[in-house]
Amino acid sequence: MIVLGIESSCDETGVALVQSGAAPVPQLLAHALHSQIEMHQAYGGVVPELASRDHIRRVLPLARQVMDEAGRTLAEVDVVAYTRGPGLAGALLVGAGVACALGAALNKPVLGVHHLEGHLLSPFLSADPPEFPFVALLVSGGHTQLMRVDGVGRYALLGETIDDAAGEAFDKSAKLLGLGYPGGPALSRLAQQGDPQSFKLPRPLLHSGDLDFSFAGLKTAVLTQVRKLQAGEGGGLDARRADLSAATEAAIVEVLVKKSLAALLQTGLQRLVVAGGVGANRLLREQLNAACAKRQVRVHYPELHLCTDNGAMIALAAAMRLDSGAQSPTTAYAFDVKPRWPLHELAA
Ligand code: KG4
Ligand code: ZN
Repeated sequence: MIVLGIESSCDETGVALVQSGAAPVPQLLAHALHSQIEMHQAYGGVVPELASRDHIRRVLPLARQVMDEAGRTLAEVDVVAYTRGPGLAGALLVGAGVACALGAALNKPVLGVHHLEGHLLSPFLSADPPEFPFVALLVSGGHTQLMRVDGVGRYALLGETIDDAAGEAFDKSAKLLGLGYPGGPALSRLAQQGDPQSFKLPRPLLHSGDLDFSFAGLKTAVLTQVRKLQAGEGGGLDARRADLSAATEAAIVEVLVKKSLAALLQTGLQRLVVAGGVGANRLLREQLNAACAKRQVRVHYPELHLCTDNGAMIALAAAMRLDSGAQSPTTAYAFDVKPRWPLHELAA
């Protein structure tokens, strides 16, 4: 079975072609991505209307590119998959509209995919794919969740953030530090030149005894430090930006690592999957690798280029849902998107 996947939930247009059936795990035939980061940079964040318009411009050329690279024709596509939610409504409608139009024109069924399920399953496209069951740490710009994953569509929420997501904590702190958008990678790069011990920042809910997260207080603490530095205390902001970045990154990463270990302990599972944009963070990977190695826990990540949003994970999630019998595609072509859609509401 060949699945064409389209991702357009936020600020990346992604298209990919995945084949399942031949190997135990679906294989990526080709994928293409256009990031809107440069376009949104001038505004300091994603402008939804501009995002939708750009998806419209990019999606068909990317689809052509993917078909060419894979050496396949549209007639060979069995199912057209698209991100149904969560995300920006207008942006989602572009992918859904194009997928349904393609499906109708080709007389092939379509399937709406949950964006976070795409992230969650994306390590299956890596050279070292996981096996069920596992604990998943989902850390993206909008979500921070620990899940118990027993199979495709079998997700139990163990804990989640009660306010900001980890990616949001990176992005908002980076903005306060004057690092622009998207802040996570920029803050992480600068942090390499700083001393993580140089500022004492809170580790919210670290000892709460549950698996929930909270990052809003950390952002406030960063703001307090930025104001002090701007007032000329402690050497000034320019001199201490790298130190404060390193301290912020260390605080976020420590909470993510400790809670992931607690989730492994609570479930008794020996396998961890990390997914979502923050999963690209170097320090998080280093610390998780070290902590998991000590406890004989296997840890899996998506390929670095598939950590952030992409079409491959959408095509993959669709193929895995279809292969496992969790869902059937439809020819109803009613492209109803779900801007808000908790992952645990996804029926198996
Ligand atoms: O999964 P994703 O691409 O989009 C969502 O579905 O939200 O995640 C984007 C998030 C942003 O908050 C971005 O700053 C963060 O992932 N991110 C990083 C890194 N790369 C991306 N955060 C920290 N370190 C990184 N290297
Ligand atoms: Zn995402």
